[in-house]
Amino acid sequence: MRTLDDSPRTRIRIPTVIMDETHQTLQADPPEQARPEPVATPLPGQTRHLWWQRGVIYQIYPRSFMDSDNDGVGDLAGIEQRLDYLQWLGVDAIWISPIYPSPMADFGYDVSNYTDVHPLFGTLAEFDRLLEATHARGMRLLLDFVPNHSSDLHPWFLESRSSRENPRRDWYLWSDAAADGGPPNNWRSVFGGSAWEWDELTGQYYYHAFLKEQPDLNWRNPEVQEAMLDVLRFWLDRGVDGFRVDVLWHMVKDARLRDNPPNPDYVPGQPPYEELLASFSTDQPEVHDIVARMRELVDGYEERLLIGEIYLPIARLVSYYGEDGSGVHLPFNFQLITLPWDARAIAAAVSEYEGSLPLHGWPNWVLGNHDQPRVASRVGREQARVAAMLLLTLRGTPTIYYGDELGMHDVAIPPEGIRDPQALNMPGVGRSRDPARTPMQWSAHANTGFSDAESWLPVSMDYPRFNVERERDDPHSMLSLYRSLLMLRSREPALQVGDYTPVPADGAVICYLREHAGARFLIALNLGHAPTIVEPAHPPVTGTVACATYRGREGTRVEGRILLGGDEGLVIQLD
Ligand code: NOJ
Ligand code: MG
Repeated sequence: MRTLDDSPRTRIRIPTVIMDETHQTLQADPPEQARPEPVATPLPGQTRHLWWQRGVIYQIYPRSFMDSDNDGVGDLAGIEQRLDYLQWLGVDAIWISPIYPSPMADFGYDVSNYTDVHPLFGTLAEFDRLLEATHARGMRLLLDFVPNHSSDLHPWFLESRSSRENPRRDWYLWSDAAADGGPPNNWRSVFGGSAWEWDELTGQYYYHAFLKEQPDLNWRNPEVQEAMLDVLRFWLDRGVDGFRVDVLWHMVKDARLRDNPPNPDYVPGQPPYEELLASFSTDQPEVHDIVARMRELVDGYEERLLIGEIYLPIARLVSYYGEDGSGVHLPFNFQLITLPWDARAIAAAVSEYEGSLPLHGWPNWVLGNHDQPRVASRVGREQARVAAMLLLTLRGTPTIYYGDELGMHDVAIPPEGIRDPQALNMPGVGRSRDPARTPMQWSAHANTGFSDAESWLPVSMDYPRFNVERERDDPHSMLSLYRSLLMLRSREPALQVGDYTPVPADGAVICYLREHAGARFLIALNLGHAPTIVEPAHPPVTGTVACATYRGREGTRVEGRILLGGDEGLVIQLD
């Protein structure tokens, strides 16, 4: 079969090891039959796969997941109430977006105390209870660490801005005005305008990559490093299983504050930040020394995980694995969000990514998060099913964004209801992230069962149809598909840790093989709406459908040719 993506095959060979016990405890609903024995891999130096290599992560945006005290905003006790659901769904870890005290200028990504819980979300005691309840169900809990910037109301910044002589002055990035009295250089804020804010009291500018309410910390200052590493210790000692680190690639800036160059590919209408390449304000070589310190600290605890939020091209992204595993365990791989939904582009990108990973680098995949339009809106409801199959069968750790398992889509929010500072700050060009942050759809009850009060963002109009209560009993629902995929994945080592081999395909089809210890699965996905036939020459396809995006084909035989309906995906267990 002719193929457009016959790039060199990436085949990662991994030795056999014994299945770890942790994993065994993570299944909410173990399948009847005995689990297949051992599993492949680990990375060099490891004797077995770690929980986060086998497991699936689920992102919770706490304001929108479950409101236990009926103030219209989700909270920790609400998450605890829904842990049984997450266990039933079959995810292994939850990552919770920021829960710390914050003035909420950027909904928690402006932290005013790194070692406490915002009263809106609960108390430290409630956090401890949630952590314990999560662990009791065999799941892990990851927090969101926001080290690049604090709130402007954090006591550190209040001190820093109080005078040039204050001992914490150098904890943030202060600079004199340029000769003309303007900002020190041309750096832009991601949320619009100059990244420099004039401070009248002390007659200098301070730098903020995001809102002016989010001043950037000076990570070149060893005291800042120590204070922030202490924050990690605080939570690790409480028992959290790791962190997703906010805007990791922003953390260090050019010491000479050189101007950023123009972006030759800028298209008018894109956010003004894009007009320049962030060559000097992000992704500086020194950031890797800081990540290495975080990693060293985290490695002092058992099996904790560091994930980095990094939007960079693959070649740069993989540098965040660090030399000899000194980086983050998982630099978030956002290609399934940023690429066009095109089979050839995605197949090529998967190969490129697999081929770019360092020896110790474990892959990961993400379909959505609280900053991006929802996958169901990006690719459509039918293709979102194919996307789910792709996410959960590629090699590497998947992260599911809350509600995507229901097929939740972006919710239109009237201009007067916009809450997101990214939109409010850049009228006309700033894309609002609110539509992807609406309340989780639990049931057909008022406010989706999320809260008895009016929720902080509106609920989707179609929630009476698309909600957990209804979808869990419907074998054709998105939720049932996600659960089937998660169950299949949890009992098939080949899908968790097996080798990945691309299988040549063309047109709208993506095809690949996952195999381990004699078990082989062929995944065939139709990213188009028209039916198609796939006939891989190698391996010859004789097998049984183990999972299908549209119910009904499971258990049916496939011999030689695979007939794929429009928007259809199949996981075929080969004989
Ligand atoms: C990335 C976070 O995901 C986003 O929500 C936030 O606005 C920025 N970082 C600033 O912290
Ligand atoms: Mg609440």
